[in-house]
Amino acid sequence: MKATLKNEIIKRLVEADGKPISGQQLADEFGISRTAIWKHMKQLQEKGYDFETVKKRGYILTATPDTVDDAKITVALETEKFGHRIIYEESMTSTQTIAHNQAQDGASEGTIVICEEQTAGRGRMMREWKSTKGKGIWMSVIFRPEIPPYEAPQFTLVAAVALTKAIDDVTGVRPEIKWPNDLLIQGKKCTGILTELQADPDRVNAIIMGIGINVNHEQADFDEEIKDIATSLKIVSGKHIDRAALVARILYYLEIYSAQYVKEGFEPIKSEWESYSCTIGSRIRATTLQDVFIGKAIGITKDGVLELQLDDGTIKGIYSADITLEK
Ligand code: BTN
Repeated sequence: MKATLKNEIIKRLVEADGKPISGQQLADEFGISRTAIWKHMKQLQEKGYDFETVKKRGYILTATPDTVDDAKITVALETEKFGHRIIYEESMTSTQTIAHNQAQDGASEGTIVICEEQTAGRGRMMREWKSTKGKGIWMSVIFRPEIPPYEAPQFTLVAAVALTKAIDDVTGVRPEIKWPNDLLIQGKKCTGILTELQADPDRVNAIIMGIGINVNHEQADFDEEIKDIATSLKIVSGKHIDRAALVARILYYLEIYSAQYVKEGFEPIKSEWESYSCTIGSRIRATTLQDVFIGKAIGITKDGVLELQLDDGTIKGIYSADITLEK
């Protein structure tokens, strides 16, 4: 469902800040009948919104559901275009699959696909991505940058900075970036990024960026295999997090940083990336498709390539790998 009148009605009631708005006033503002407004209110109630009806004076919004539905995100949005088209369903196979189809059909930059639960969520290297219902942010964002395909991996680094800042703003906890696509808190993973492309040999048509964030999970929500290496924003901050507000903040930073990247390249964002990184300065093991390299991560290049100083002193540029910290 894309941004609709229902979203606008919710936005209007939120902005009224506890003052009642009459059905007639809403009907006049949106150019529809009072009966149509009443029908929308009923449907919103079915989705978990609640209203107090003050006799002769109108509706006051008294409760919103704990969801990432399009109305909740729309209310919190501060962007010019990101998140202005939202495809939301309670359950999806994978937001990536749906976003790929949307991009193929011409969806514009900033379109997002988001759900409460994925039944076939996927991570990097075709791993399964567990997406517990109502606990996380399972979202794909479509970008249309005018860049050559070989620059696309830098987009992951740009997104990591945007996500770090958004999480810090909303929760007060700042994650660290583990090159290239994980965010960790206290050494445990809270966020993964999956950057996929639709491209011709010399130009990107679309970047489909999958973002998975463990937000309101309790420790018991994690499966046995990942319970020692995964964490959630709630576990580390001790607070229940408004996921829709976090989505809106993420879109705010993604819009700013992706535009800056397309205009000026990665260099101006590099020092910020480095300041958030837990990879640089550490001894790491990098497992590429062909080899394993062990050494000290000494930095990233202006193109986002990880530089590893091997034990014989040589510097190895790592373009793509799974990395783990070595003792
Ligand atoms: C990783 O760390 O391996 C990347 C995980 C990416 C998971 C997200 S959740 C939303 C989007 N849809 C998917 O199927 N995967 C990504």
